[in-house]
Amino acid sequence: MSEMQAAVSRDGRTRVAFIGSECYPFIKTGGLGDVMYALPRALTRQGCEVRVILPYYRCIPDRFRSRAKYRGSFMMDLTLEGRTFYVGIMETEMDGVVYDLIDNREFFDWGSPYTGLWEDIPKYCYFSKAALAILNYMEWIPDVIHCHDWQAGLVPVYLRTRFEGTPVAAAKSVLTIHNLRFQGICSIEHLKYWSGLPDHLFDYPIFKINEREANMFKGGLAFADKITTVSATYAEEIQTDFYGEGLNGHLWYHRPKLCGIVNGIDVELWDPAADALLKAPYSRDDVLDKKKENKLALQERLGLEQNADKLVLGLVSRLTDQKGLDLIDAVFQQMLDENTQVVILGTGDPRYENAFRYYESACPGQVCAYIKYDESLAHQIYAGADALLVPSLFEPCGLTQLIAMRYGTIPIVRETGGLKDTVEPFNENTGEGNGFTFDRYEADLLLDAVRRARRVFLEDRARWDALVCRDMEKDVSWENSAGQYMALYNELKSWD
Ligand code: ADP
Ligand code: GLC
Repeated sequence: MSEMQAAVSRDGRTRVAFIGSECYPFIKTGGLGDVMYALPRALTRQGCEVRVILPYYRCIPDRFRSRAKYRGSFMMDLTLEGRTFYVGIMETEMDGVVYDLIDNREFFDWGSPYTGLWEDIPKYCYFSKAALAILNYMEWIPDVIHCHDWQAGLVPVYLRTRFEGTPVAAAKSVLTIHNLRFQGICSIEHLKYWSGLPDHLFDYPIFKINEREANMFKGGLAFADKITTVSATYAEEIQTDFYGEGLNGHLWYHRPKLCGIVNGIDVELWDPAADALLKAPYSRDDVLDKKKENKLALQERLGLEQNADKLVLGLVSRLTDQKGLDLIDAVFQQMLDENTQVVILGTGDPRYENAFRYYESACPGQVCAYIKYDESLAHQIYAGADALLVPSLFEPCGLTQLIAMRYGTIPIVRETGGLKDTVEPFNENTGEGNGFTFDRYEADLLLDAVRRARRVFLEDRARWDALVCRDMEKDVSWENSAGQYMALYNELKSWD
């Protein structure tokens, strides 16, 4: 260990800086926000010292903005011309995790975090560089810098180029792929200008992907000391043509430093026994009665026929191609019967929003399409539905099936990525397993899985109830996976 590191890690705790574009409860658009919240807390419980670095977006609710205290500021150069930009640090703490929010109105004053690649590329070039600069400024040098998705993709690159020779360069870097579909691709000129990085990086091994374009994620993956992704199956899948999103060759080349560590969920945040958003909180011991109460309350809230004997299928999802919604669309009418209701919560592609709105108007009292982002309704669906649909085309990990199991709601999933790693298929002979699964991306197979689930629900309730209880007992917490990240950080620390 270098003298400098020995000085900063005096108490022996591993120091980790998380860098990413969203984090619950400040800002969340999907599972990345959940992980940026839950994993630092789990690592803190295992003895790590964690700081989370985020943009100080204008759209962060005032109750969090007002809690953050000014910690300092400085000017930082960025771009090929060396233009200077303000970097403010707003700091807050929650349960032992420190959050440093980077303040700059020019980049972060928009109504939502992601506003289109043309603005997002400069925004996240600035963010990645500022994140390293604030660590030097605060003289808080981590053992490991843990970067998340393409928005933090330039961090490992800056760390080994512009920041070489500065204190923060003592840190090792991990880059986690939460979703390879989004990579931060733009013209070579645009990235060259905003990143201000040297010309030689804009060749094929690093940023370049074709004669015109550069890819921020690709460069980060090349420079990171370790690459992780959020399930073992997705780690394998992304090295193939189908799932590799054009980077499969690059990932195959870098596979010695790639591994999959499956996500968990925060079992305090997602706790049916202490969930204030539920009509009737419950544990494994009273789930069978209380779930009915929650179902009736959900049906009432959404204007569905109130009947606890109906099979309620839930969907809580971004409405994008990734999530297998075209399969649901293709067999929607066949999925519904007089014993079934469907509840959809999500926003996204207008094509799916409109399709689901249509089904709601065609089947009043039986289908509800709630086209919004709504945390409280999400909790009520996890508690009140009987089964949750997750028929994804690809799914790096997926959190909704984990939350569903914790709430005794049976997942119906396609066997891909983290869905395959977390949902063991129900075996009709032995009664073992956690959910109903299908393999190929075909609408008829989804329909078959729904029908199998419905048969057990309607005709073999004792088995269904046993499944509900077993799912509630499954360990979906972060503890085990946080231990695997600790082992990875320790390996990186031992490199000195
Ligand atoms: P992804 O990150 O691909 O969107 P995940 O399954 O990992 O998928 O995580 C999705 C997270 O976002 C879950 O916490 C889920 O409850 C939440 N979520 C998705 N859509 C909505 C919505 N419309 N309203 C509330 N929460 C939502
Ligand atoms: C991504 C993936 C999802 C994963 C989440 C958190 O958004 O689509 O599968 O659970 O990140 O890692």
